Amino acid sequence: MTFRLSVALLSVALALSPIAAQQQEWAQCGGSGWTGGTTCATGTVCTVVNQWYSQCIRGTASSTTSASNPGSTSVSAGLQNAAVKAGKLYFGTATDNPMQTDQAYVALLSNTSEFGSITPGNSMKWDATEPTRGTFTFTNGDTLVNLGVKNKQLVRGHTLVWHNQLPGWLENGQWTAAELTKIIQDHTTTVVKHWAGKLYAWDVVNEPFEEDGTYRDSIFYKVLKTEYIAIALRAARAADPKVKLYDYNIDGLGSKSTGMYNLVKNLKAQGAPIDGVGIQAHLISGSVPSSIQANIQQFADLGVDVAITELDIRMTLPATAAKLAQQKTDYQNVIKACKNVKACVGVTIWDITDKYSWIPSVFPGQGAALPWDENLKKKPAYDGIVAGFA
Ligand SMILES: *[C@@H]1O[C@H](CO)[C@@H](O)[C@H](O)[C@H]1NC(C)=O
Repeated sequence: MTFRLSVALLSVALALSPIAAQQQEWAQCGGSGWTGGTTCATGTVCTVVNQWYSQCIRGTASSTTSASNPGSTSVSAGLQNAAVKAGKLYFGTATDNPMQTDQAYVALLSNTSEFGSITPGNSMKWDATEPTRGTFTFTNGDTLVNLGVKNKQLVRGHTLVWHNQLPGWLENGQWTAAELTKIIQDHTTTVVKHWAGKLYAWDVVNEPFEEDGTYRDSIFYKVLKTEYIAIALRAARAADPKVKLYDYNIDGLGSKSTGMYNLVKNLKAQGAPIDGVGIQAHLISGSVPSSIQANIQQFADLGVDVAITELDIRMTLPATAAKLAQQKTDYQNVIKACKNVKACVGVTIWDITDKYSWIPSVFPGQGAALPWDENLKKKPAYDGIVAGFA
């Protein structure tokens, strides 16, 4: 994909009224040219509807995060603009279909000063796109791809071959090597062709390694050993010759990263079309690896692009001001690691707001992992990202 992002730098004059009258639910609280009150009544949140109109809308957030969220202190021109200034292609986010009815969320998602790229979180996965063999459904993926195209955001495809969220027919089947090769080729070809020309990159193979650096014993590996990776990459390249092909996941240096390093080296040696490696980066606040930059660098040295593809930094709830300050530092360090290596092309956070993060459902008691809180208010982490790109 070669279309260029046009990034509008908005100069915004902030009229801060010293005495903030409280706006009631549904009242206007902001927007271009608005000089009235900007503080919403308790229980409601000033929510951007569009550039000209913000409205007090009842917040659905739990009070734990927002009560302790000291908020962002910077007046910022947005994360995408910060990333571009640092020489990166994009700052992006994952999103999903259920929250597309949340107007305030969609307005933020569509703000190209903040996000130059979006990644569908679930709707392109195998169970979503080919629930029955040979029968493809693209509706949910189309919704998100069309939004990105309309917004002039780069869309990252996620993901073609992964051991999770597979349909039963595939996972429970008994396949010969020839059959499974054809299944991978048919799936990859059909899905990549469907969105050909509209995507910037595809995560072709996701999470091929165990933590210890051995190959994950997925249905693909069981039948085809490491062959399945090049099979998928080649089919994807044939279906959309321009799209960037990625393979991941790793964070800092370690056995898993070494496994990935050897794989990429090997793929390049056999001429398989691999363009990039994703540093997944589902991290824990206070224990972010210090070797992320060194890790990015070693892949850059192999001649592939690197992207941070699923960044979030979780903490034990409830969030406190001290924990949010630590998280700010953590975000800053991760972003800086990408900034410092030219081949690191962009960063994707795994959704925008704590309201829609996957973390609490998978790691009970953990959360508050994203730069916007449950009321879509910027957290200190937001400033950390800006500082990391500075
Ligand atoms: C988009 O984000 C930027 C940066 O935070 C902000 O200044 C601007 O007001 C936002 N635009 C809209 C339309 O909300």
